[in-house]
Amino acid sequence: MNKVELYEVGPRDGFQMVDEYIPLETKVRIVEGLLDAGLRHIQITSFVSPKAIPQMRDAGELVSQVIGKYPEADLFALVPNLRGAAAAWDAGLRSVSYVVSLGESHNKANIKRTHDESFAGLQAILEAYPELDICLDLSTTFGCPFEGIKTEHDVVPFLKPYVDSGVRTVNLCDTIGIANPAQVRRIIEAVWAEYPSLDLQVHIHDTRNMGMVNTLAAIELGVEKVQSTLGGLGGCPFAPGASGNLATEDLAFMLSEMGYELGVDIPKMIELARWQASVIPTGQYSGHLFKVPDTN
Ligand code: COA
Ligand code: ZN
Repeated sequence: MNKVELYEVGPRDGFQMVDEYIPLETKVRIVEGLLDAGLRHIQITSFVSPKAIPQMRDAGELVSQVIGKYPEADLFALVPNLRGAAAAWDAGLRSVSYVVSLGESHNKANIKRTHDESFAGLQAILEAYPELDICLDLSTTFGCPFEGIKTEHDVVPFLKPYVDSGVRTVNLCDTIGIANPAQVRRIIEAVWAEYPSLDLQVHIHDTRNMGMVNTLAAIELGVEKVQSTLGGLGGCPFAPGASGNLATEDLAFMLSEMGYELGVDIPKMIELARWQASVIPTGQYSGHLFKVPDTN
């Protein structure tokens, strides 16, 4: 049995789907609650244009309220460009997710860049911040809302220039929850066959109720870092039809029942997911456990 580390991305992927501004103190309380429940890797925010995602306009302040208090935490943020990477660095973060979509039309809708422009953007970050730890978030790895299903024949060649320029970690994102386990296996096997030392993560949305099986398929192939969100809150505002992620507490429950040592307190996570749903009421929660009254 390989090990599994949970990467909580709700404070970014979840909060970005909420139109009404979530007060900073609520964000801080949720992030601290996640840390208190034993989660160590947390995507705390994104450094993006406030015109694109007004919810994230407090990114720097949120990081500054949490970072000093939790030296053990691995806090990271999503960035779309050099400006975002600079802001993340200035806020004290040393780890970012650089987002690019495999589907160029989604890349244009999401970050208004062609593939070439996105690649150039990453080179600028690598040059300016050689010590920044960068994970390539490959959005729409399994399917694009505008271009349809993607295969290993799309993914493997797309990654080549990134791997050649020094990218060591790639997060395969099922942004619209369209993947199936056979496709997850094919893509991961093909990527590792070509780039055996690449550190792979997965980030699966639960749109079609396949978040759990797809994530498990990746784990069973040897992926050790998996992303999910508290309560399953999540989605992409620039991908029509995108809905919630696989819920962290549901995933933690399954893995711990299977015997994985995760170091997290599941009842605390369920309690926090319930509190989150009470203070951020939205239909975007795909989690199951926190909705069942006696699961704590
Ligand atoms: N952080 C904060 N502000 C930023 C920024 C960043 N990382 N990057 C650009 N901006 C600002 C610019 O300063 C400019 O502000 P101004 O109009 O007041 O001068 C404005 O945003 C537009 O800048 P520009 O470089 O022309 O960006 P754009 O309009 O081409 O948009 C992105 C490109 C990437 C900045 C924008 O689309 C974005 O932030 N997208 C994020 C989408 C997202 O988070 N999706 C979900 C997660 S996958
Ligand atoms: Zn997502």
